[in-house]
Amino acid sequence: MTACRRIVLAERPKGKPTEDNFRLEEGELPAPGEGQITVRTIWLSLDPYMRGRMDDAKSYAEPVAVGGTMEGAGVGEVIDSRHPGFVPGDIVVGRTGWASHALLAGASARKVDPALAPISTALGVLGMPGHTAWVGLNRIARARPGEAIVVSAATGAVGSVVGQLASLRGLRVVGVAGGAEKCRYAEQELGFDACLDHRAADARALAEGIRQAAPGGVDIYYENVGGKTLEAVLPNMNTFGRIPLCGMIAWYSGQGVADAMRVPALWRTILVRRLRVQGFIIFDHDDSFGAFLEEVAPLVRKGRIRYRESVAEGLENAPCAFLKMLDGGNFGKQLVRVGPDPAGT
Ligand SMILES: NC(=O)c1ccc[n+]([C@@H]2O[C@H](COP(=O)([O-])OP(=O)(O)OC[C@H]3O[C@@H](n4cnc5c(N)ncnc54)[C@H](OP(=O)(O)O)[C@@H]3O)[C@@H](O)[C@H]2O)c1
Repeated sequence: MTACRRIVLAERPKGKPTEDNFRLEEGELPAPGEGQITVRTIWLSLDPYMRGRMDDAKSYAEPVAVGGTMEGAGVGEVIDSRHPGFVPGDIVVGRTGWASHALLAGASARKVDPALAPISTALGVLGMPGHTAWVGLNRIARARPGEAIVVSAATGAVGSVVGQLASLRGLRVVGVAGGAEKCRYAEQELGFDACLDHRAADARALAEGIRQAAPGGVDIYYENVGGKTLEAVLPNMNTFGRIPLCGMIAWYSGQGVADAMRVPALWRTILVRRLRVQGFIIFDHDDSFGAFLEEVAPLVRKGRIRYRESVAEGLENAPCAFLKMLDGGNFGKQLVRVGPDPAGT
């Protein structure tokens, strides 16, 4: 048996989640069965999709049950294995949940090469968020050099990779982010052509800012947020523009939904500008993970793609960090350090 701490969903949120929706529990994990591994979590990833799993609503994935461990991916160290592909000491990424230890099917875990980059990047720039950026840009938007792209949540785990990849491909990149410091980072450290602060402008002023930053119009809007940013980008979209619809975090807890732009106005813009809007979920694109890693890992190693991480210390602080992230309190990929990293990072 292995002692285990975990964060469970104590109750479903009504609107904006609070810390009362979570509870820390202690228990024990049985020894691994045939084909299973026991993993000690080192890094836990906090992601916006987890907000959706807290609701009992029909979606592309089952909700977390009340009393169940909060879902999530983690990077950890194998401490026991009954799977031929893993030995104690291996570093893996898998669906550990918000827990100090997890029992995983070996077949569901992927080995992480600590020589490639710090192992935490397997949850960010070289993991699911980076892959999402790559798929949205390549497969969904089919970005071409010379085009102009707007990306929202521009300094976040997904948005920062979208903007940098687009810039390397010769697109004009306009970010939208929350606050002057994030915008400065996008322009000066990530190399975006411009970045606009959505917190300092209403939809009309934001639309004007985008018009000035992309004077030839917007060919691609990489949609991460919805809300007033979507409203501001739409009038700037060029004919035959594309909108990879990756997320809509502004609306995840129901805030602003009643004031959102009306469907007829949205529909009309899509029609008259002949826009292609395509929602996508990254787990439909597992086949391209290898190609993504092959292209992006060397760029990260050479410093041509940069990344930032926000780290919360200790599993017990995961709920607070998660709530802050939903409100833009993170700066880059939000992680929780659950246990010591053998690399000492
Ligand atoms: N389709 C998929 O398979 C897939 C996979 C991964 C992620 N996603 C989606 O991609 C988006 C970004 O995810 P991420 O992991 O990279 O998170 P992230 O950007 O690192 O963190 C979330 C960010 O959302 C922004 N935000 C929150 N409320 C907002 C609001 N009302 N208006 C504008 N921005 C707001 C905040 O940035 P600012 O401070 O800059 O406002 C916050 O930092 C999310 O919508 C997520 O659900 C989708």
